This record gives sequence, structure tokens and C-alpha cells, in this order.
Amino acid sequence: MSKYAKDQPIGFNNAIERVAIAGGTIGSHIANALLETGKHTITALSRKDSGNTLPEGIIVAHIDYEDEATIVAALVGQQFLIITMAPTAPRDTHSKLVQAAAKAGVPYIMPNGYGSDIDNVKLGEDTLLGPVAKANRDEIERLAGGEARFGFDFDKRSLTIYDDGNTKISTSTLSQVGRAVAKVLSLKELPQDENDKSLTFSAFLNKGVYIKSFVVSQNDMFQSVKRVTGTTDADWTITHEDTRKRYEDGLAQVKAGNMAGFGKLLYARAFYPGEASDFSERVQNDHLELPSENLDEATKAGIDLVKELQLRVERMAS
Ligand SMILES: NC(=O)c1ccc[n+]([C@@H]2O[C@H](COP(=O)([O-])OP(=O)(O)OC[C@H]3O[C@@H](n4cnc5c(N)ncnc54)[C@H](OP(=O)(O)O)[C@@H]3O)[C@@H](O)[C@H]2O)c1
Repeated sequence: MSKYAKDQPIGFNNAIERVAIAGGTIGSHIANALLETGKHTITALSRKDSGNTLPEGIIVAHIDYEDEATIVAALVGQQFLIITMAPTAPRDTHSKLVQAAAKAGVPYIMPNGYGSDIDNVKLGEDTLLGPVAKANRDEIERLAGGEARFGFDFDKRSLTIYDDGNTKISTSTLSQVGRAVAKVLSLKELPQDENDKSLTFSAFLNKGVYIKSFVVSQNDMFQSVKRVTGTTDADWTITHEDTRKRYEDGLAQVKAGNMAGFGKLLYARAFYPGEASDFSERVQNDHLELPSENLDEATKAGIDLVKELQLRVERMAS
């Protein structure tokens, strides 16, 4: 049954204002974009020994995952909880947040689940993107990005091209993810009445939000990388690999307990010819008034991020 603002109790404010985020890399982009709207108060749920530096303007609530009362206290009064939890966090961490949010009366939760098509069951099965696989993902492999993903190793200047490298997929920058979440949370919560056909926050409940930055092939990415790094074909070592074989190899590694295969199977699956992860027909960029982005700027940001994450891994190892 539709809910309308006109039927809500006096004092109902038709907007999402108080947002809590448990997150880091993606979470910081979402938080920054939300802050920029000027419409939201952001509370970061962060462990007290967290190394995260939080953007200015954010309220910090230090929580202890072993003490539920601290999580509930941080969540009381919040309207929306965003979970962008590290896949390396203990498997019950997500559930602890959800349980505490329920106890605190938080009406909406955006769970951890970014980068795939939640409506495509087969794709989900193929990519093993369940909570178990996510929680088990190898942290360093995940942080460092690298060859297992889009095939690029920037240090070695090597590239593995899947099949002929022409299969296109839709993909989003972290900033676009942040903006999309901020846009959705800036919409009216409910339509004013049955005649109000404008886009509202409630239209997204229990549905995926589909966005894209680019629809690109590995060859498109390679052209961009060469422009950004000022390199030519001669500077790169190129190998080709059959996409399905690469998926099977990654899957065999995971089954043998080597989670390094996870990135391999996940990204190879995205490039299956004829079944590629191209959601572009479903994207809601126009509805959400998301800006068009520049591929070379995004490539540069991606290369810079790989360097930053490598430093993080080195810091973690030392
Ligand atoms: N980053 C990407 O490029 C990317 C791309 C596609 C999908 N994803 C998915 O998006 C989700 C979020 O990824 P992310 O890269 O944004 O995460 P992240 O930065 O690695 O971690 C997010 C936060 O999780 C908390 N955390 C870390 N270890 C924890 C532990 N042991 N116990 C409790 N909390 C812990 C930390 O918050 P505090 O220190 O403040 O407590 C951390 O800042 C994941 O499901 C990931 O698979 C990420």
C-alpha cells in the first residue's frame, strides 16, 4: 500500500536528514557527497581504534562491535544506515549493525552490496557474491587491485586482455557511487499525495539503484591508460586469455581455499561475451541527474588509488 506524506503525523518532515555510515573507502565518498548537499547530518560509526580520518563536518560515534549497546546508542534517532563494510570484517559484523539498527528503530538500511546486479541470480551465483565469500576475501588482494581485476599491472606495465578485449561492461567510479547515494537520500521521502508523480526516495525501497560512469571494454581502458601515462604499446607486455578459462581458473583457486582467485573469477565473469556485466540499459543516471564523467580523469584517479592502496598494504605489513 502506498504511503503518502499527507497522511503522516503532524511534525513529519518529508526528507531523509539523519544518516549514519559504517564505512571507509566507498563510505567516505558517500559521506562527502552527502555533506555537499547540505541536507544531511552524517554520523560515522567507527571503531574506537579505527585508523580512519573522517571528513570535517561528520559526527563520530565510536562503537565497539563486542558491545551492542554502543551501536544501538549511536543509531538511535538515525533515519538511514549505510553499511559499506570491509569484506574482511568478521562475518557477523554486518549482522551486528543490522540487529542494532532494528533495536534503535532505524527505518532504512542500505546493506553492503555494491558492484553487481542484485536482480541477476545467476550472475550472483557465478560470482559467489554472497556474504560468506565476501567476508573471506583476501584483504591484500582486494586492496591492491591489480591484474586480477581489469587485467592491468601498472608496476610491471603488463596487461592481460580477456578474449579480444572488445567486450564492454558498465562500471562506476567511487565518486559516482557517492553522488548517487547522496541524490537518492536528497529526494522527498514519500510522494505528497496520489497525484505526486515526482521521483521519491520511497521508489527505491527494496530495489537496486543502477548507475554507470562508463561503458567500456578493456581496449577502451587501455587507450585511456596509455594517454594518461604517456606510454605506447611498446611499453606494455600484452597477453591474451580466454575469459571462461580465466573464470574457471579463479573458481578452482577459490575452491582450493586460495581467495586470490576471487578477484579473477569476479572480473572474468563480468566480461563474458554475450553475458557481460553491462547494466547500461537499466541505469538511472538521468533520473538522478548524475553528471557525465571524463574517462581519462577517472583512469588517472584509478591509477593514483592503486598507488595509495599499495602504500596502505605496505604500512599494514610493516
Ligand atoms: N573499494 C572498492 O573499489 C569497491 C568496489 C566494488 C565493491 N566494493 C564493496 O564495497 C564494500 C565496501 O568496500 P570499501 O572498500 O569501501 O571498504 P573498506 O574501506 O575496506 O572498509 C570499510 C570500513 O569497514 C570497517 N572495518 C574494517 N575492518 C573491520 C573489522 N575487522 N571489523 C569491523 N569493521 C571493520 C572500517 O571502519 P572503521 O575503521 O571506521 O570501523 C573500514 O573503514 C565491500 O563490500 C566491497 O566488497 C568495494
